Amino acid sequence: MKRVFSGIKPTGDLHLGNYLGALKNWIPLQEEYECIYSIVDLHAMTMQYEPKELKENVFKIACNYLACGLNPDKSILMIQSQCPKHAELTWILNCLTPVSWLERVPTFKEKSLQMADNINMGLMDYPVLMTADIILYKAEFVPVGEDQLPHLELAREILRRFNARFGEVFPEIKDIIRKGSRVKGLDGSAKMGKSLDNCIYLHETPEEIWKKLSRAVTDPARIKRTDPGDPDKCNVYSFHQLFSDEQTQVEIADGCRSASIGCIDCKKILAKNMADELEPIRTKYNEFIQKPDFVYDVLTEGNKKANIIASNTMMEVYENIGINYRS
Ligand code: TYM
Repeated sequence: MKRVFSGIKPTGDLHLGNYLGALKNWIPLQEEYECIYSIVDLHAMTMQYEPKELKENVFKIACNYLACGLNPDKSILMIQSQCPKHAELTWILNCLTPVSWLERVPTFKEKSLQMADNINMGLMDYPVLMTADIILYKAEFVPVGEDQLPHLELAREILRRFNARFGEVFPEIKDIIRKGSRVKGLDGSAKMGKSLDNCIYLHETPEEIWKKLSRAVTDPARIKRTDPGDPDKCNVYSFHQLFSDEQTQVEIADGCRSASIGCIDCKKILAKNMADELEPIRTKYNEFIQKPDFVYDVLTEGNKKANIIASNTMMEVYENIGINYRS
């Protein structure tokens, strides 16, 4: 069975971008592939963090993974730091990766501006660790949102360099990008992101969802209720495309163009459809939060399985790079 790898940083609550761009797409892949879904706590350390919060966030993300339908009988759910080979392979890859490749990564440039007082080596090395995450398991498919594509491009270059220098150990990797791979925030301009105040979070109640949606930006040209709108320019409509069935999407688009439906009614329908999809996740999430023993057992089991696969890959890596002193 071919392998899939993906992960989420435990830096705060998950929002609709994480859900639509990543988690939701991970679920069906469990039927076709051997999937490894990680909580990438080493990546979270590239930013300022509180140790207690990091631990809590890891647990919360694990609860979200389970609540969204990741099945520990089918997939491996693991914590990145609990398989130390991620860090070990990163070092080996570091010694193959030119600094200039990392300096030109768009997220490194952005983050360096955002956190000018904390441009640490980990921040720069972020994509190398990400490469190690994936190739350690010889994963061939990586389901992510669009913002991760430059990282995956670099990962391909690094693994090709390894293979060219030390022999074909790692298979090529392909991204899996689906509908919802670039979810905009409620302001309709920037990408939905934890650092911006433009998110709907996965755990929000129907009332909280409505409160946020009611203020969401729509087609800016539609000022009066009687103005016809353009659904293709409306961010709320783009959420309908992700949460409403096709029939509703057609009705909303027609109603918007002919001004037979106003923005408030359009948002009310969306709020209901969104809450219908998210409510069962929220309920299950609240159940898992009450069962830390179960959740940690799942993670311990996942960590064990991940370590076995990782050790096998690393035996091959040691052999090829000339540090196999064990036999
Ligand atoms: P992170 O934690 O920033 O985001 C987790 C996933 O959510 C997706 N995402 C979005 N998708 C659509 N629209 C948005 N507005 C949006 N915001 C976030 C991200 O694309 C991502 O898929 N570097 C990764 C974690 C990582 C990883 C890996 C991923 C570490 N190692 C190996 C894949 C393979 C990250 O920071 O994700």
